[in-house]
Amino acid sequence: MFNEEFHFEQPIRWAMIGGGRGSQIGYSHRNAAQRDGLFKLMAGAFDLNADRCRDFGTSLGVDADRCYNNYQEMFTAEALREDGIQAVSIATPNSTHYEMCKAALEAGLHVVCEKPITFTTAEAEELKALSAKHNRVIAVMYGYSGFPMVQQAREMVKRGDLGEIRVINMQFAHGFHNEEYEKNDPSLKWRVSPAVAGPTYVLGDIGTHAFNLCEVITGLQVDRLSCMRQSFIASRTPLEDNAHVMMQFKGGAVGTLWASAVNAGAMHQQKIRVVGSLASIEWWDEQPNQLRYEIQGEAPRVLERGMGYLYQDASGVAANRVGGGHAEGYFESWANLYHRFALAFDAANRDDQEALAAIWFPGIDAGIEGVRLCEKCVESADQNAAWVEYK
Ligand SMILES: NC(=O)c1ccc[n+]([C@@H]2O[C@H](COP(=O)([O-])OP(=O)(O)OC[C@H]3O[C@@H](n4cnc5c(N)ncnc54)[C@H](O)[C@@H]3O)[C@@H](O)[C@H]2O)c1
Repeated sequence: MFNEEFHFEQPIRWAMIGGGRGSQIGYSHRNAAQRDGLFKLMAGAFDLNADRCRDFGTSLGVDADRCYNNYQEMFTAEALREDGIQAVSIATPNSTHYEMCKAALEAGLHVVCEKPITFTTAEAEELKALSAKHNRVIAVMYGYSGFPMVQQAREMVKRGDLGEIRVINMQFAHGFHNEEYEKNDPSLKWRVSPAVAGPTYVLGDIGTHAFNLCEVITGLQVDRLSCMRQSFIASRTPLEDNAHVMMQFKGGAVGTLWASAVNAGAMHQQKIRVVGSLASIEWWDEQPNQLRYEIQGEAPRVLERGMGYLYQDASGVAANRVGGGHAEGYFESWANLYHRFALAFDAANRDDQEALAAIWFPGIDAGIEGVRLCEKCVESADQNAAWVEYK
């Protein structure tokens, strides 16, 4: 059970880039980071528009002189303050992540960055090297990995409850963009523009979430993949609003990933099914407190969050904030991750590499694999869905 008495002597002084008024994901970061009192929002370059940044930032309680015109100004000014920021979250459109992450690491800050972290794996590898050089941590916001039942699934696979893993079906296929809504929606418009979104739309935007769940739960590595992608809304070409990926994993398992924004009528439809030689598990982000557990020859079971029969290790740090039966959700998953990020940042500050290595959280390696997935899918799709080596 979550221990709310745990605090640092002082919360981590924290800032945001992006996530301004009306943004899709800004509130999720602020809610999660400040949930347990481990981070305090001190500064921000929240918006492309400086007046709106100041107006919005002060409405959140940030001092007006710490609402900056841009992130460069923020890093320079904060470095001169005794109470300057120690960490920053980047919640801007994709094309900005690389330069902002790089500048943050060089300014000596820990980073939480949105996905996809960069456009290319070479850039993401460069950030990894920089984070090691400066002993600063990069966390990547694969927000679904903080659900307790995802951690339970991970533990079940690790302990062999499913037997040998054979098949993984992943999907994140919503229906919200089945028409050309980008005409009136700036938050969607940049997502279908290669200059801002990068080489993919749905693969990077949502497919990487489902893929990250596969990595977290199974720990398997892709060996080869084949990808077919297309846009049912023609103006989105060359980016895709629908994609199917077939994967072969090292060790013999196989899998599929369906990423789509045109699955009309569907909400998220983010599901992962892991099939082993003895049993299967299935998790769905719209019912995140439950995990289906199906043993061959037995009646299917539904495991419930917060119950004593779950693996204790699975609850990890700051999971299970309320007893079973009450619905925890998306905000709790994010807060669980921010809790882990705080512990990781603190361990790095103390240069306790052993403690840092023991804290599980989606870090730069998860970020790199998300980018690699996009790169390899494009490489395959461009060759008429040819099989391509993953690494
Ligand atoms: N982890 C998740 O579940 C999840 C969910 C949604 C979005 N995202 C990611 O979050 C990022 C932002 O997405 P969004 O939907 O919130 O976008 P959005 O378009 O809704 O909002 C972007 C915000 O960033 C600000 N901004 C843009 N450029 C800036 C700059 N150079 N400096 C300062 N502020 C700037 C804008 O003014 C706006 O406030 C994207 O990378 C996206 O992929 C992740």
